Parts: sequence; structure tokens; C-alpha cells
Amino acid sequence: MKGIVLAGGSGTRLYPITLALSKQLVPVYDKPMIYYPVSTLMLAGIRDILIISTPVDLPQIERLLGDGSKWGVRFSYAVQPQPDGLAQAFVIGREFIGDDPVCLILGDNIFYGQGFTGMMLDAVNNADKGLATIFGYPVTDPRRFGVVTLDDGGLPVAIEEKPSEPRSDKAVVGIYFYPNNVVDIAAAIKPSARGEYEITSVNEEYLRRNKLRVKCFGRGFAWLDTGTVDSLIDASNFVEAIERRQGIVISAPEEVAFRRGFISAQELRRLGERLQQTDYGQYLIRLADGKVF
Ligand code: DAU
Repeated sequence: MKGIVLAGGSGTRLYPITLALSKQLVPVYDKPMIYYPVSTLMLAGIRDILIISTPVDLPQIERLLGDGSKWGVRFSYAVQPQPDGLAQAFVIGREFIGDDPVCLILGDNIFYGQGFTGMMLDAVNNADKGLATIFGYPVTDPRRFGVVTLDDGGLPVAIEEKPSEPRSDKAVVGIYFYPNNVVDIAAAIKPSARGEYEITSVNEEYLRRNKLRVKCFGRGFAWLDTGTVDSLIDASNFVEAIERRQGIVISAPEEVAFRRGFISAQELRRLGERLQQTDYGQYLIRLADGKVF
């Protein structure tokens, strides 16, 4: 399976922070925001990853991530000239995707919780069987999101983008797993009333074909928003609380690479040594030396 991180947009809600800096490079506690979605894809076992961003931001992101070899993965890069909608990722990424199934993750979505890897692996299996998988998360104000309604058996019956009168409290989060035919489905959708190629239109098409599956996150699972300064600081505080309490670093791509067997302990140690002035670097060194459980 291939992976795409969509990391464009203008970040206007974070001005002046994002006037000269890509939103996805803004720190969330101890690491750049984009480390979180990249780690998520790597956790799902995905090693071939396309990063899509604006013409201005893409070079900065590439400077941070490089070709991926240091983490045992491969990064490719592509420009989205205008933020015309999430579904454009599959049009821009068509050649990169080739004949494979694909997972799209938004560059500003952070996920954390037990059982997440297993849920993603189920979604990967679904994609191999021709099924699309999205994830629902109960929220207090579903009108800000894509919203999915399920029947008693957990199958989706409706999906709507930012409905004024939501039929359920299940927001659709920013990670989506699709079989290869998403490339054709995305190419055929029409822009919405707000002028965007909506990911919800793609999901509606899978629903129409009876090929859409929904997994719901339970209590205790964290899906963090980073869209505003307040939600950004909340996300940083959340990550800090977990990391300091448990003595771990969450969503470190270096750790995921090591635990997934993409890099050796020796390679991990070298990555840690380059950052050894920081707690982050020291953590990687302890991990490489077998001192983290
Ligand atoms: O976060 C989950 C929600 O993401 C879903 O519930 C919605 O169904 C989905 O439409 C999307 O809604 P948002 O209104 O949050 O999308 P937004 O326009 O804020 O874009 C999300 C991120 O993707 C943001 O960091 C900017 C980036 N982006 C957005 C667009 C439209 C791009 O890189 N390119 C784009 O064309």
C-alpha cells in the first residue's frame, strides 16, 4: 500500500505563525507537526509515501524529511498549486499510486491510542478486498466535519460534509484507506458548492457502491485537531502530558522505523546521536540501547 500526506493549505487560522512557515512544520510539543501523520503511515507498515504541499512550503518540508532513507522509507514530493480539495491528492498522486491501494492522511491530524495499529491493519486488508475504510470519532460539534451515520449493524447509511443538521455525532477523521480504484473515482467527482473536490464525495461514491466500511474510535482514543492556536497548544499539552508521565516519545518516526524493522538499532543510535543535545535524541539512544520498554 502507498501513503499520501496532504500537507498544503494556507494555514490562515494560524496567522501570523504560518505567514512564513508551513503549518505542518509548526511544532507540536517536541517535534514538527508532520512527524505525527508520517509516523502514523509508517505504523500501518507503509514505506512508500508521497508528500503533497504548496509550491512555497514543499521545499521546506523536503529539507526536513529528505528522501526517507534515514528512516528506511521512501518520500516523494508533489505540488498542489491551489487548495482545491482533499480529493485532489489522488489526481496529483495518480502516477505515484500506480496499481496499488492507498492511504491518505491529512498533515495536521494527530492520532493516539491503544489498538490503533490493529485498526489500520484491518483497513489495509479491506483495501486489498476492494473496500474503502474511514474512521468515525464522536464529537460535540459534528457540523465542523464530515459526518457519517451508521445503521444498527455498524454499516454506513449516510455521509455528509459539514451538515447544518448532523444526523449523528460521528465526525469522519483525516485518515482514509482506499483500493486502487480511488484514482478513477476521485478523477470523476465534481466540485462541491464551496468549490472543492471533497473527500466526502469520494466516500459517498464508495457508499453508493456498498463498498464503504467505518471503524469507530472508542473512549480514551485521542484525535487531535491543530487548526487554531488554542487547539495547537492543547495538542502540545496532551503530547507533553503523555510523554512526561510515561517517559516515552509518541509518534517519533525514528522509533516506528526501528520497531517496524525498517532500520537497525545501530542506525537508530546514529540518528539519536545527531540530536543528542535534546531529550528527543537521548530517548532514541536509550531505545537503541534496549533501555526503553
Ligand atoms: O479533519 C477531518 C476533516 O477534514 C473531515 O471531517 C472533513 O470531512 C474533511 O473535508 C476535512 O475538513 P476540513 O474542513 O478540516 O478540511 P480543511 O480544508 O481544513 O483541510 C484539512 C487539511 O488539509 C488542512 O491542513 C489543509 C490541508 N489541505 C486542504 C485542502 C482543502 C490541503 O493540503 N489541500 C487542500 O486542497
